[in-house]
Amino acid sequence: MKTAALLAHPAGHSGSPAMHNAAFEALGIEARYEAWDIPSDGLADALTRLRDPSILGANISLPHKHAVLELADVVQEDAATIGATNVLVKRDGQLEARNSDAVGFMRSLTEAGVAPRGAAAVVLGAGGAAHAVVHALNRAGARSVKIINRTPSKTAALTGRVGGQSATWDALDARAVDVWVNATTVGMAGGAGEGESPIPTGILMAAPKHATVVDIVYAPRVTPLLETARSAGLNTVDGTGMLVHQGAVAFEWWTGKEAPVAVMRTALDGFLRSQA
Ligand code: ATR
Repeated sequence: MKTAALLAHPAGHSGSPAMHNAAFEALGIEARYEAWDIPSDGLADALTRLRDPSILGANISLPHKHAVLELADVVQEDAATIGATNVLVKRDGQLEARNSDAVGFMRSLTEAGVAPRGAAAVVLGAGGAAHAVVHALNRAGARSVKIINRTPSKTAALTGRVGGQSATWDALDARAVDVWVNATTVGMAGGAGEGESPIPTGILMAAPKHATVVDIVYAPRVTPLLETARSAGLNTVDGTGMLVHQGAVAFEWWTGKEAPVAVMRTALDGFLRSQA
């Protein structure tokens, strides 16, 4: 029996065990996924445990996404560019820090029929998730990627690292935006911005009907932003897409097998319903 582990602190509220255990079972892989609650002072020891041959790989979540970059033997290009890792892969006895968020985000767009090539995109937020989203949109050939964030210094750090241009609401023409992505935590259940939308309603109402609004917040599944976007007749993609696909990419890296995405999605839906 092999083990895949989530290293996080706290580690109790993740949907990853449900998704990955369902995927292992569906493919008949003798493995289980465990959530390990690891405080920062236990991180180095946890990485030593991961070197045991019984360990298939790991997910890395808060607060370790940056620290593990320093402790891994190898850092994949995406993880280095984004400046964070969420997946550890074992290769030739080495621990490689990777990032599946950018690829997972792109797969969720593709699944929803959204092609960012040539699109004018606006990303809200400049945290870890925004880094992955901006990187993915740039790589997919978006014509422009504008970033709006509450704290301008963080926007500057993001554009310096992964590209895109800093923008403000005043200077933005919503009629010329094809893809909007909320990569802030605004709208998230239990967070400071619960019940709020990160895009002023008047701006969304001015969006052309072909525009797509993507929210990476997945709880609630239909955020106030997505509700407004739907009532404005816009195409929407909810945050479960990126969550499932970042997991599917990690699963493929660990097992070398195509992830059973539908199985993982059903398991995640069940988990999220149980948490609501
Ligand atoms: P993650 O790793 O999920 O991206 P994060 O790094 O904490 O999380 O980033 C959260 C993002 O949401 C940040 O861009 C944050 O804005 P600041 O850079 O100004 O902190 C944004 N955010 C959180 N709460 C917000 C709010 N109430 N209004 C606007 N932006 C908010």
